[in-house]
Amino acid sequence: MNDTTTQTASAQSAQAATDAAGEPILKVRNIETYYGPIMAIRGVSLEVPRGQVVTVLGANGAGKTTVLKTVSGVMDPQKGQVIYEGEEITRQDPNRIVARGIGHVPEGREVFPFLTVLENLQMGAYLRRDRAGIQDDMDRVFDYFPRLKEREAQHAGQLSGGEQQMLAIGRALMTRPKLLLLDEPSLGLAPLLVTEIFNIIRRINQEQGVSILLVEQNANVALNAGDFGYVLEVGRIVMEDTCANLLQKDDIKEFYLGQKEEGVRGKRRWKKKKLWR
Ligand SMILES: Nc1ncnc2c1ncn2[C@@H]1O[C@H](COP(=O)(O)OP(=O)(O)O)[C@@H](O)[C@H]1O
Ligand SMILES: [Mg+2]
Repeated sequence: MNDTTTQTASAQSAQAATDAAGEPILKVRNIETYYGPIMAIRGVSLEVPRGQVVTVLGANGAGKTTVLKTVSGVMDPQKGQVIYEGEEITRQDPNRIVARGIGHVPEGREVFPFLTVLENLQMGAYLRRDRAGIQDDMDRVFDYFPRLKEREAQHAGQLSGGEQQMLAIGRALMTRPKLLLLDEPSLGLAPLLVTEIFNIIRRINQEQGVSILLVEQNANVALNAGDFGYVLEVGRIVMEDTCANLLQKDDIKEFYLGQKEEGVRGKRRWKKKKLWR
């Protein structure tokens, strides 16, 4: 190897280091994911910059859950790539993906109902061997969710929906994630609890620097919690912008925020305004 090659190689590795620092923690490139013959995700690309909260909005059936399952390795895409911290993780085993630092809070919480709150949290740490670190993280989870501490000996099945959501988030935090995937944390919860849980999601992001990819039907809370947002319709991204800008867009206000209105008036508007289909 002569001097020129050595220099070029070291310049390249310096460039690679710079790129890695400023690079998004997650890049999803043109994924297509199927259920048998049904194409649920039709070429989706998105990015999560390090330290940010990115949200994907979409109605029921838009493909939000499938996007998260493809990132966490629960489903394999037919095409496209998932790139985490600059490395391709497409089609890797879900356990390996968790170990790399991606925590997935699934839709409908999926806590273990016959295990206690404490045991559910311990399950989150089952891949880890660092006892002291595990205890620190357990303390932090109880600090975020004091109600879980009060109920640590109860079976998870006896908790309310909101408490189960807290437990599901807590369990994912026990994997010590760098990136947290949240699947509709607001689903089925009363507005006050939604506010409480979203405040904690924001704290987890700000205090621990955890990057977050949040999928939601509840555009109001998601856009207020997020930095950048994508709108997903029938498996495709149809709009993307900062959450601040999305909140100002008429389409979003009428179609997604209008969806929140109760009663007949809201339903009528929902039927009239089919903007992207
Ligand atoms: N297990 C499944 N088998 C077949 N089709 C499915 C299955 N799960 C989801 N789908 C379809 O894939 C599409 C996307 O679903 P999903 O990702 O769950 O949407 P969302 O989370 O936005 O409600 C929908 O059309 C849905 O009917
Ligand atoms: Mg879903």
